[in-house]
Amino acid sequence: MKCKKIALIGSNGMLAYSLRRTSPPEVELTLFDLPEFDMANKAQVLSQLSALNPDFVINCAAMTNVDSCESQPEQSFLVNGTAPGYLAEVTRQLGAILVHISTDFVFSGDKTTPYVELDKTEPLSVYGQSKLAGEQAILHSGLDKYYIVRTSWLYGSAGSNFVETVIRLAVEREELGIVSDQIGTPTSATDLVAVIWTLLGKNQEQNTPAPFGIYHYSNDGICSWYEFACAIVKLMRQAEIPLKLKELKPIKTAEYPLPANRPAYSVMSKEKIISATDMQIPHWQESLKQYMISRLKG
Ligand SMILES: NC(=O)c1ccc[n+]([C@@H]2O[C@H](COP(=O)([O-])OP(=O)(O)OC[C@H]3O[C@@H](n4cnc5c(N)ncnc54)[C@H](OP(=O)(O)O)[C@@H]3O)[C@@H](O)[C@H]2O)c1
Repeated sequence: MKCKKIALIGSNGMLAYSLRRTSPPEVELTLFDLPEFDMANKAQVLSQLSALNPDFVINCAAMTNVDSCESQPEQSFLVNGTAPGYLAEVTRQLGAILVHISTDFVFSGDKTTPYVELDKTEPLSVYGQSKLAGEQAILHSGLDKYYIVRTSWLYGSAGSNFVETVIRLAVEREELGIVSDQIGTPTSATDLVAVIWTLLGKNQEQNTPAPFGIYHYSNDGICSWYEFACAIVKLMRQAEIPLKLKELKPIKTAEYPLPANRPAYSVMSKEKIISATDMQIPHWQESLKQYMISRLKG
């Protein structure tokens, strides 16, 4: 990639951390996050991004606590739904490219085969509805140059996520019940950022830019949260980490009620992003292993 200015929105978050850690030397990242920068403040978005005049805007910011969103619908729709439209507006004015991260929770989970990008969206939660509104705000903004990347079950260093929660609980508790009737695919933040850099890098190559639009990206393979937890615990045992955990048991969603409804099946097809980037997608078990190895090295 030639020297490029990138505005990274939500720069203190988990995915943004992986982007910051892996940004190519020819990239100049400028960081934007709360409290200095509020994406939901339109005047601030327009003035600060216009002053920077970036080539790319990467939006990792969102209200990501799915259950908290249920009790804060107005704020969720403002941040996740309306604010991406402000980013799209200024990106269009500047002639830049927007990368926006969305979620598998825009789907209802009624399907039994992987969701493709054109499948009907039907979110079950305020979080999913507000993230879908964010996608639509971008689509209706008049901006042509955007990549909306939907991802699922994201984990990485520098953030609270399922992998870190299971690691902590396996050390603290003797028994753990994890839902086994929600099926999806984990995504390593390291792998997702590699795709983001590839999309942007290809955009600099005159002959092979990835077409703009909506893409799905997760790791390869399918599992339940329970199977995901089993794999984490197995890797901890292999690494000889002392655990209190004696029993990891599968439970039903109904046995562990949470404020937000979640899709029972949210596996996404990656065919479109594979053909746009020529990238191979690592299996979730392999990426989890790599994550655990680097995490345990400290
Ligand atoms: N985590 C997952 O499992 C998952 C799954 C699918 C899709 N995604 C999507 O992936 C993206 C990245 O997720 P993540 O887990 O890396 O998120 P994250 O760790 O929660 O980071 C989000 C960042 O955005 C900031 N932010 C929130 N509201 C803001 C605002 N109004 N203005 C500016 N910054 C604001 C947050 O600040 P505060 O912490 O101070 O609020 C935080 O630093 C999000 O779009 C999310 O919806 C995540």
